[in-house]
Amino acid sequence: MKKIIIESLIEVYDSVVDLGAEDQALFQHARDATNASHSPYSSFAVGAALRLDNGQIILGSNQENASFPAGICAERVALSAASSLHPNSKVLAVAVSARSNGAWVQKATPPCGVCRQSIKEYEYRGNHPIEILFPGTDGKILKVKSIEALLPLSFNADNLLKR
Ligand code: THU
Repeated sequence: MKKIIIESLIEVYDSVVDLGAEDQALFQHARDATNASHSPYSSFAVGAALRLDNGQIILGSNQENASFPAGICAERVALSAASSLHPNSKVLAVAVSARSNGAWVQKATPPCGVCRQSIKEYEYRGNHPIEILFPGTDGKILKVKSIEALLPLSFNADNLLKR
């Protein structure tokens, strides 16, 4: 028997202003996107902003449903929109922001498991890593260079396709 240790590198920024200009702008887009959230059941408004290789910024927000499982997270709304509107563009980065009952979250708020799987799909499709920025504790921002840091050992297209 041998053991395998998997490590993830996560960058921790003390606040949004410590990010580079492009990431700061993307994070602000994610904040703005929370305004379109439809989240009457959780009062947890999530915004996602994607940066594409064609320079476009695509926004998404969580859209809940009275039949709870029909709701969809902000990240997947944004990824589906990007893939539908710009099918030939790669996603380079995603920023996520969230407000709980109106107040910006002060706890680490990484993408949920289903959204991680979806980000993995578009990394594979674009054959390019997707940077992910999300809130850390007390106004910090956490950043990873690829979904590999949040979803190691994933089931993905390699398991089904040959390329
Ligand atoms: N939510 C997101 O939009 N993204 C995530 O990655 C985590 C959760 C939404 C789903 C639901 O509308 C609300 O946040 C509470 O779970």
